[in-house]
Order: sequence, then C-alpha cells, then structure tokens
Amino acid sequence: MSETETSETTSNTANLVALDPDGYAPVNHPGVTVPEDRRCWSVSWPEYTPTDITPPELRPSALAAHVPAWAEAAPTPAEVHDWRRRRAAALVPFKLDERGWPLHPHGRTGRTGRNLGKWGENQAADPIVAAGNSEQRWVLLITRDDIGTEAIPGGMVDPGETAPAALVRELREETGVDLADHRPTILGRDVVADWRQTDHAWITSTSALYQLPARVTAIAADDALDATWWPFDSLDQLDTAVTAAGRTLYAAHRPLLQRALDHLNQP
Ligand code: BGC
Repeated sequence: MSETETSETTSNTANLVALDPDGYAPVNHPGVTVPEDRRCWSVSWPEYTPTDITPPELRPSALAAHVPAWAEAAPTPAEVHDWRRRRAAALVPFKLDERGWPLHPHGRTGRTGRNLGKWGENQAADPIVAAGNSEQRWVLLITRDDIGTEAIPGGMVDPGETAPAALVRELREETGVDLADHRPTILGRDVVADWRQTDHAWITSTSALYQLPARVTAIAADDALDATWWPFDSLDQLDTAVTAAGRTLYAAHRPLLQRALDHLNQP
C-alpha cells in the first residue's frame, strides 16, 4: 500500500462517527449533510434518511420501563395529543407533517429522533447580563457543564413557568446574581442551533438584556462550572478573550450576543 493510500484510509476512519450496537448515533453526531437548497420542507427529497440521535434512555423500549424526570413519555410525536395547544403557545411557529409530526421551523437538520425533554418546541430563557458603559463593557458567561463552552447563563423554562421568571431563576441558580428587581429588555424569541436539535425536537429561546452599571460578584453553581465576566465591546473582542483563556464560545449563542451588542451600541 502506498503512503497516500495509508493516510487516506486513516483520515476516512477518523471522520467516521461510530453507531452504537442498536444502530443509533451518538447525540453529537453531525447527521447527514443537508444541502441549502434541500433544507426547506416543501422541497421533495424522497431519499432523505436523517441520522437518529435518540439517546438510550429516550428510546421507546426504555421509555416503556421508565420515563426520566426531564422528559415526556411519548415515544414518538404520534403519541402527543395536544399539538394544537403547543402550536398556539410556540415562540416560533411550526407545522406538522402528514403523519402529524412537528417539523423544525428552519427545515431539515439531517438528524431525527429526540434528545430533548419534549417533541417539537422546547423553550429556554437566556439572560444576557452586561455591565459597564460604552468606554468598557463586560458580559457575564458561564462554562456549561455539559459541553464545556462559554455560554449565556440560561436554561429551560419549567412547566407552568413564564419566560421572565425563568430568566431570573436560571441566572440566580447558575451565577448567584439576583436581578428579580430589574426589568430586562427582551431581545428576541428565536430557534437556537443547539447540538441536540433534530427534525422533530428543537429549542427556542427568549433572550433578554440586563444592563448593570458595574460588575457584580458571580459564583458558579448548578449547571455552571465557572462564571466569568468577559470584555464585551464586540463579538470579536469577546471571542479573542475567551480563546486567549483557552476556552471556546458556545457557537449557538453568538447570534444572541450579537443582538445584545447591536442594542447596546445603537445611538
Ligand atoms: C441552555 C440555554 C440554551 C439552550 C440552547 C439550554 O440547555 O441552558 O442557555 O440557549 O440550551 O442551546
């Protein structure tokens, strides 16, 4: 075998993500590639076979024996019976397919199954806390304990909870900072490109901006390994500081942080 053949084989193997013995992919599997012109659900693509990233505890056989506290029991969206209510309450509108399964609002993701609490929309709340002024600004981020990246100290909205209440609760739980007396600016309600999303289960987030005159003490707890104030005059500056510290900015939160900067920098 020539040297070229050897290195090709090696790199091909490195790119493969192994399926588990039951034929399911790990939750960080990139899925099948979806060309931009096939993303939209209205474009017919009969051969489309997305990768199933359902983790072992959410597979139908496991759910029949035990439903984790953070998840709904339905093994498929066909066993969910309140789609009308869920669609009316959705932060970002979505449709159902001919089987009655919810469809990701942004189109095909290349991945199927569920690795989130609910089928369809799962709501999160993301409090962006900025301190300082136009001379020097800071933003409070946490190190997530699941993927180890620097992210907004947000979390999932609990059943029966409102997004504003979840913003305050998550911030307090993850950083010890209590802004219950502050009135934030709601920046948007968006789909977040979370690594767990699939064609039939995804996350939307209410993001809100809190502005403080100066940094306050933040102590990491709950899902946060660390809580840090980072320089926040631009996304580039934030990225450079995070990278220089040997850390990584959570990519899915970049658009939310940019929206906060746009708001802070508007004349
Ligand atoms: C996090 C939120 C985030 C969402 C989407 C949740 O687990 O707590 O901050 O926006 O996932 O990635």
